[in-house]
Amino acid sequence: MSEKNVSEGAALWHGRFEEGPAEALMAYTESLSFDKRLWPDDIFGSKAHVTMLMAVGLMSKVDGDNVLAALDTVAHEFASNSFVFEPSDEDIHTAIERRVTQIAGEPGGRIHTGRSRNDQVATAVRLWCKREVAVVRSKVLELVDTLEARATEADAQQVRLPGYTHVQHAQPVLLSHHLRAHCWALLRDASRLADTLQRLDVSPLGAGALAGSSLPITPDISANAMGFATTFANSLDAVSDRDFVAEILFDIALLGVHLSRIGEEWVLWTSAEFGFATLNDAYATGSSMLPQKKNADIAELARGKAGRLIGNLTGLLAMLKGLPLAYNRDLQEDKEPLFDSVDQVRRALVALNGMISTATFNVDNMTKGADAEALVATDLAEWLVQRGMPFREAHAVVGKVVRDALASGTQMVELVKSHPQLGADAAQMFAPGVAVANRRSPGAAGPEAAPLQQQRLLAAIAEAKEAL
Ligand code: ARG
Repeated sequence: MSEKNVSEGAALWHGRFEEGPAEALMAYTESLSFDKRLWPDDIFGSKAHVTMLMAVGLMSKVDGDNVLAALDTVAHEFASNSFVFEPSDEDIHTAIERRVTQIAGEPGGRIHTGRSRNDQVATAVRLWCKREVAVVRSKVLELVDTLEARATEADAQQVRLPGYTHVQHAQPVLLSHHLRAHCWALLRDASRLADTLQRLDVSPLGAGALAGSSLPITPDISANAMGFATTFANSLDAVSDRDFVAEILFDIALLGVHLSRIGEEWVLWTSAEFGFATLNDAYATGSSMLPQKKNADIAELARGKAGRLIGNLTGLLAMLKGLPLAYNRDLQEDKEPLFDSVDQVRRALVALNGMISTATFNVDNMTKGADAEALVATDLAEWLVQRGMPFREAHAVVGKVVRDALASGTQMVELVKSHPQLGADAAQMFAPGVAVANRRSPGAAGPEAAPLQQQRLLAAIAEAKEAL
């Protein structure tokens, strides 16, 4: 044995070993460095476990009270940053049990009765998700609120901008319509997170290492104490299931993709070429070399970090795919991607919210783009359709007008005025704001269709806020 051992006999599982663990083993297998943030959840789960042990008579009242008090002391030590880790603490679970035993003495040695770190960690991670994913969800709804507030504000002036397909001017749309489109995507994200939260609300505590216990434990009691909606039905599934982590990572990856698309738009909108929006100084960054620069770094990182969120999901799925039942140490690899995705998307939501709520929309530039002649082309064709012409033919007639305008350098409106099939009536559609006002079909981008859409959106927001 050439390597130094971490203190001999110190690990909780050390009974069957003669030698202490090698430093290299501890350095490679420890999870304390990233799972210590689970301390509130591990303590909460441990208290529920002790409560159950007392209720079924596996722990006396005196011992149980003693251990519960020790758990409170440990919680206080964590909260006040005075908890001291020891080199033998592999993970947060062993650290807490070790400390409880130091404080409570012999009764501390009873805390792990009928419990394994396998059901313990699954419980702690689920508890963590219940709390943190609910926060992510509420941040999604805050961003929706901001977008809707900015949409309402834009509606007061009926701000319009060019709508795009292929990043080419297509048809004019209200700014509110554009902003609300993102609200709908984000509401789907919130709904997916709510579904996920509902499905993960199952307590795995009492599954033991894999097969339950020979002791008369009652998992429903601890599940109730922790506020889980239900208790596991199958112990093997309880300790090996990480579907909930995969679901969260997918929900966040897709949310991240939505934020990335919003980010990309803001990068475009704040460029000199578009000039549709100006960021508040507090939400923009400068260049160390180019004094004139004002960069949309929040928007860029919302775009860039989406790759990482997708990576966290694919990494987890790849880790899970080869695992036989039940617990395997590979599962320890669930936590870093989970924590990272939750942390990252939460910061993205807060930063984008600040950026969007404080930015200024450059209404003149948007309006100028929206009122460009080319954006009326489809309405001209539809004007002909209303007068009986088949759409395909109308498309060709207007296409010819566009071609002639480009070739001759004449304004389309002039060509339309003198056009035998179009004329002065049709030319009125070039007046500012007319094209956007003409988008009146249900769900369309014009002012007449807007109030009903806003109503539907507000109802969906209210419903999302009610659920959970
Ligand atoms: N740190 C481990 C994890 O995160 C805890 C469970 C370890 N269980 C075991 N039997 N080694 O998965």
